Amino acid sequence: MDTFIIQGGVPLNGEVAISGAKNAVLPILAATLLTSEPCVIRRVPDLSDVHFMGKILQSLGADFTFEDGTVKVHAKRVKTRGDYDLIRKMRGSICILGPLLGRKGKATVSMPGGCVIGTRPIDLHLKGLRSLSAEVKVREGYVQVAAKRLQGNEVFLGGRVGPTVLGTANTMMAAVLAEGVTVIESAACEPEVVDLAHFLISMGAKIQGAGSPRIVVTGVEKLHGAEHEVIPDRIEAATYAIAAAATNGEVTLTNMRCDHLAAVLDKLKEAGVRFEARGSSLKILSGGEIQAVDVSTQPYTGFPTDVQAQLMALMLKASGLSIITERIFESRFMHANELARLGADIAIEGPSAIVRGGADLSGAEVMASDLRASAALVIAGLMCKGRTQVNRIYHLDRGYEVMDKKLRSLGARVKRSKEK
Ligand code: EPZ
Repeated sequence: MDTFIIQGGVPLNGEVAISGAKNAVLPILAATLLTSEPCVIRRVPDLSDVHFMGKILQSLGADFTFEDGTVKVHAKRVKTRGDYDLIRKMRGSICILGPLLGRKGKATVSMPGGCVIGTRPIDLHLKGLRSLSAEVKVREGYVQVAAKRLQGNEVFLGGRVGPTVLGTANTMMAAVLAEGVTVIESAACEPEVVDLAHFLISMGAKIQGAGSPRIVVTGVEKLHGAEHEVIPDRIEAATYAIAAAATNGEVTLTNMRCDHLAAVLDKLKEAGVRFEARGSSLKILSGGEIQAVDVSTQPYTGFPTDVQAQLMALMLKASGLSIITERIFESRFMHANELARLGADIAIEGPSAIVRGGADLSGAEVMASDLRASAALVIAGLMCKGRTQVNRIYHLDRGYEVMDKKLRSLGARVKRSKEK
């Protein structure tokens, strides 16, 4: 397994281009199953999750090629049963359920595995599909859905902690070919849901209200092929912005959308980070005195749970106590124990992590556990003096395109090597 070796204490400086959004491209790739015509998706990041989704589409009978950031998918004919092992290995694959049901009237996929951040239930996905008259069965680890003809309906998709991103995606993708009108109340408002809706509309779907808590879908007979460019990855952008601030560097992020990061920029400003936000670029300035801040993760437009770990790493250098509360997932503090190996002083109290900033940090060997926790460990390693080794870097490769190369281009001393 690969590992990162980081010699920390070096301010990041320069310019970094942000890649296409992982969490937009996964449901968009699934949506190509809704048509028998070819689709072209551009600005696709070269990530293991994307290649994995490609394998899943191929296992369903689709042609899939990925070259220089452009994916071509042609699901001329498509099977309705996903490969058990492939699907249960990646949570994001659950979003093939809706398009398969919409296109073929039935689908059988394995229950997605949980992961280190929580159990990851799919009850709301199944509620959405049932609301469209699909019959849902869970048998021997498989989810089987079927409907003679999907019927549009009203459905409330809010769960115990708010909306579901992929549950909204699945329901929307099944509704686009249903008979009649579907209204999704308490829909997820994330930019990735909006991007999926834009792709579906370019395929001929009729969707209004994407980005708001009420999405209205008017079913159509058929969808045609389309071309689409994926939005920039707001979580990757937030990760590099925080890495720049954490190393007191001066970094310009390009090809991004500052309007997708309002909550993050607001919190960074409160934390004393100096920056210039200019639409599609963000310049982090050095010299900010990092202050402790409190934050609770929320559904969009609130502070994203996918940036919680990275903010925690930044708070290690803040003067004072920060309280970071995770409201979306039940156990998303795996990074706290690993940060403690670098000298961090973090106490976990229920859904909150209390970070005592200003502790004396020094490099150490740490273990990545999930995608965003790994990013937090890399940020902390860049920040503190000495050598930090981040093991199991495959977690990072799922969601960050060539992170070591991008960091080296900013002057970081980081190299990838095989774990001994
Ligand atoms: C998406 O996951 C993202 N993944 C996650 O990013 C992100 O953290 C999450 O949305 C929240 O923003 C992709 O888009 C591939 P949810 P998703 O359904 O859709 C509960 C990353 O690091 N829930 O919005 O699976 C659930 O347990 C990943 O890039 C139910 O109770 O998340 C959680 O507490 C991590 N029942 C909350 O809702 C359901 O049927 C939000 O989950 C579905 C979800």
